[in-house]
Amino acid sequence: FRHIVTLDGPAGVGKTTMAKRLAGALRIPYMDTGAMYRVCGMRLGEEATAMSEADILQTLRAIHFSLDGSGEGTRLLVDDVPMGDEIRTERVGMLASTVGTLPSVRAYCREAQQGLGVATPLVAEGRDMGTVVFPRAAYKFFLEAAPEIRAQRRLDQLKEMGASDLPSLDDLAAQIAARDHQDRTRKEAPLKPAEDAILIDTGKLDVDGVFKRLMQEIKA
Ligand code: C5P
Repeated sequence: FRHIVTLDGPAGVGKTTMAKRLAGALRIPYMDTGAMYRVCGMRLGEEATAMSEADILQTLRAIHFSLDGSGEGTRLLVDDVPMGDEIRTERVGMLASTVGTLPSVRAYCREAQQGLGVATPLVAEGRDMGTVVFPRAAYKFFLEAAPEIRAQRRLDQLKEMGASDLPSLDDLAAQIAARDHQDRTRKEAPLKPAEDAILIDTGKLDVDGVFKRLMQEIKA
């Protein structure tokens, strides 16, 4: 996995934006692993934590992830179909976080992600890319920013997507804080920087500034 760049960090910190930019510059695909957990969350549904292990595995085995294209235009396909914006709501984000506490879901996603990473160099973006999935990645980054900045960024993103039922900034900030808390405190693969990750506070930088910082490290 030496040909892998990992980008980890909490919600709304700009990981997907940066993963796209980096993938474009490096001419390799990027992998949005949050989207994979979101799909698992939608398929397993609200009752996931009460389901039997056998039922969970059966549902998971029916999900097939693949990557199409590369650079900014990379698409994550689910059963050969590109994913739609319906996975981007905060409700599905929380569902993703909840199924992400289940060991069988983590094992399924980890294996799928590592399988994709064997086939091609990647920018891998998520919560546990540098710590668990690609511990031997060539470059590891952990992005941080204050919660209010992240909530504002997420709100801007939802507006850009033309989402209906926009939440208030306060509600969104509270939802993101609850999700981060769940991600940071779960037993398996909690959200935290890898020991050898480069920490970047994106709060003080704009998109170009963060991108420059990342490229400096990669070129060095
Ligand atoms: O990045 P995104 O907000 O789309 O991720 C949704 C949720 O999926 C996260 O809050 C987290 O609980 C889970 N996730 C994870 N491991 C990853 C990526 C996402 O547990 N590598």
